[in-house]
Amino acid sequence: MTKPEKYLVTGGAGYVGSVVAAHLLERGHHVTVLDDLSTGFREGVPAGAEFVEGRIQDAARWLDGSYDGVLHFAAFSQVGESVGKPEKYWENNVGGTMALLAAMRTAGVRKLVFSSTAATYGEPATVPITETAPTAPTSPYGASKLAVDHMITGECAAHGLAAVSLRYFNVAGAYGALGERHEPESHLIPLVLQVALGRREAISVYGDDYPTPDGTCVRDYIHVADLAEAHLLALDAMTAGDHLICNLGNGNGFSVREVIETVREVTGHPVPEVTAPRRPGDPAVLVASAEAARDRLGWTPSRPDLAEVVADAWAFARHRQEENA
Ligand SMILES: NC(=O)c1ccc[n+]([C@@H]2O[C@H](COP(=O)([O-])OP(=O)(O)OC[C@H]3O[C@@H](n4cnc5c(N)ncnc54)[C@H](O)[C@@H]3O)[C@@H](O)[C@H]2O)c1
Repeated sequence: MTKPEKYLVTGGAGYVGSVVAAHLLERGHHVTVLDDLSTGFREGVPAGAEFVEGRIQDAARWLDGSYDGVLHFAAFSQVGESVGKPEKYWENNVGGTMALLAAMRTAGVRKLVFSSTAATYGEPATVPITETAPTAPTSPYGASKLAVDHMITGECAAHGLAAVSLRYFNVAGAYGALGERHEPESHLIPLVLQVALGRREAISVYGDDYPTPDGTCVRDYIHVADLAEAHLLALDAMTAGDHLICNLGNGNGFSVREVIETVREVTGHPVPEVTAPRRPGDPAVLVASAEAARDRLGWTPSRPDLAEVVADAWAFARHRQEENA
């Protein structure tokens, strides 16, 4: 085991942060979760982590030099909402991160892993998308995450921070009792599972005339536990003064119809679908190049099979259904 270290996990009561916090604890590290529970859940904080209910905007109150680093997940991340309420995204994602970086500088905490996103690229000119692709976000959400990436680059160059931004593509699956429960839910796999559970009548397929093999959009789904492993590797790979940016995806695309079909196979339930018009701003194909993550972090996804991703998400969804029955 590596030497135990102490990490602040912002947003650790949310989906991805809770799974990463659990992985850190399993490696013997000390974890403090800082979360204001705006979209997260107290029961999502893994056992063994210290919990502080608060905002990253006030991070200076809790952060001190005893921490080895920060893993920063806390953000708002609803693309559609960000279009209607851009100020909410600038205040929280950008303003909140400015305060967090200032608190880290003052406390002398010099390691950061940041949850960036494929949404920083916008509509790609070529796929798979590499880290050198132009960044042209099509939503305030993507723009806010890109602004933070720029902020971190400056912090590294000027103040010697060691940082890795991980640009996630579509995170999916579950890690035991820790899974995806966004409200409202906008991600495809949990939505299709709600249909399988009988909580939703049908799944809408937005456009079936895209230039893809079956006409539906193709996306890159990455298992949340594989994503968590990449964060641990990022902590080892970072160097002072350097900001490394890596895409995190499988490098494999699955169409909307392939996801729905996989849910039918895994759950054994019928999943009615209805075709709806295309949504504005939905690119036909979004697939990551996973080369930089492999070369720079030594990361390879160990759960690239869509059926495994869906099976883990299904087990979590059924568990929650039983709990709430
Ligand atoms: N889930 C995905 O597919 C995906 C894809 C790309 C990027 N991301 C990024 O990954 C991160 C985690 O996403 P998620 O899906 O786990 O979302 P989530 O909503 O489940 O988790 C975010 C957590 O941050 C907390 N939070 C928000 N603002 C806060 C603040 N100001 N102070 C303290 N806590 C705050 C929320 O309460 C929540 O627990 C986000 O930054 C998101 O932008 C997620």
